[in-house]
Amino acid sequence: MSKIILITGGAGFIGSHVVQLFVTKYPEYTIVNLDALTYAGNLENLKSVENAPNYLFEKADIQDEAALDRIFKKHKITDVIHLAAESHVDRSISDPLAFVKTNVFGTVNLLNAAKKYWIGELEKHLFYHVSTDEVYGSLHDGGFFLETTPYDPQSPYSASKAASDHFVRAYANTYKMKTVVSNCSNNYGPNHFPEKLIPLVINNIKNLKPLPVYGKGENVRDWLYVKDHARAIDTVFHKGVPGETYNIGGFNEWKNIDIVRLLCQKMDEKLGREPGTSEKLITFVQDRAGHDLRYAIDATKIQKELGWEPSLQFEEGIEITIDWYLQNEEWLSRVTSGAYQDYYKEHYGN
Ligand code: NAD
Ligand code: TYD
Repeated sequence: MSKIILITGGAGFIGSHVVQLFVTKYPEYTIVNLDALTYAGNLENLKSVENAPNYLFEKADIQDEAALDRIFKKHKITDVIHLAAESHVDRSISDPLAFVKTNVFGTVNLLNAAKKYWIGELEKHLFYHVSTDEVYGSLHDGGFFLETTPYDPQSPYSASKAASDHFVRAYANTYKMKTVVSNCSNNYGPNHFPEKLIPLVINNIKNLKPLPVYGKGENVRDWLYVKDHARAIDTVFHKGVPGETYNIGGFNEWKNIDIVRLLCQKMDEKLGREPGTSEKLITFVQDRAGHDLRYAIDATKIQKELGWEPSLQFEEGIEITIDWYLQNEEWLSRVTSGAYQDYYKEHYGN
């Protein structure tokens, strides 16, 4: 059946891969990308689909009720995949309210717009909310996050995402909206804004700048290649059971320091540098406030019930990622000019 899907945050890192996948895989669908184009949104990420007949872009803020009403009506939206968010933990520490505004208020605004537009036929339309494993808090003694793990968010970012997840489930329960939620581990890959660990380290190695590792670098993250997350979102959107939650992860845990060392070694090879050159740039800096120790997803449910699993091994994904950044110097220099420099100086002091 033909669908007109509103994808929010489609100009961001993950959203751009989801938009590209849906536009190319489902020519019978119309994809309306709604994005406010904050510092993290970049239409260059969507060059491959910008002229596709089934792709449309709307510059709008999810906090703007009138704009949402207009967009639902204008495009006769049938379904929503909601990714728009403030997404960086460090920024949430310095400006928590920005996260409340977009992630909590913006999500509730979007739920209201969908509910209003779909009134009388809520059961025919899906509201898919894309969330993070960070809502479950921090693991200290082994174990994994399951869909049943109680929420225990520890940063303003994860608290705002947890609140938005709760609102989505509350709308399903109270108004009988058809919703589904997925909680994914850390993504990496092309189009990743270089404020996050992997692209920041790649960019700094390239420019022979210090590689800031928070604390002792012992914190553990479970990394998933972004196109595998986009495939998982496709799977959940089409096969997920309404009302359910699906955890998505890479079965791929790494300590930060080990990832940084791996990037150093691979980039020395690729840039023809003396082995060990980049490792000398590693600089242990003050730890992030309230830094979550370990995230690890148990993705058995989506694997068993919906048949999704990661397609790429980390070694392969990281090679593709480094090559992409080395081949897309212009993208990197454009996104790291201007406001990025100010952010970097304020956060890292150099
Ligand atoms: P991102 O920061 O790269 O992109 C966010 C996008 O949302 C940008 O294009 C931005 O312009 C847009 N946006 C921000 N505020 C907006 C607003 N008020 N109205 C409309 N658009 C707005 O984020 P990402 O890493 O692509 O993450 C996308 C989603 O996936 C988020 O909901 C995030 O919580 C979730 N997630 C991210 C990861 C990860 O590792 N990056 C992991 C799990 C879940
Ligand atoms: P990040 O990419 O910001 O993702 P998240 O905080 O959502 O997991 O950070 C990944 C890990 O890397 C996290 O433990 C914090 C750490 N980190 C650094 O050590 N140095 C940095 O400069 C950044 C940005 C992150």
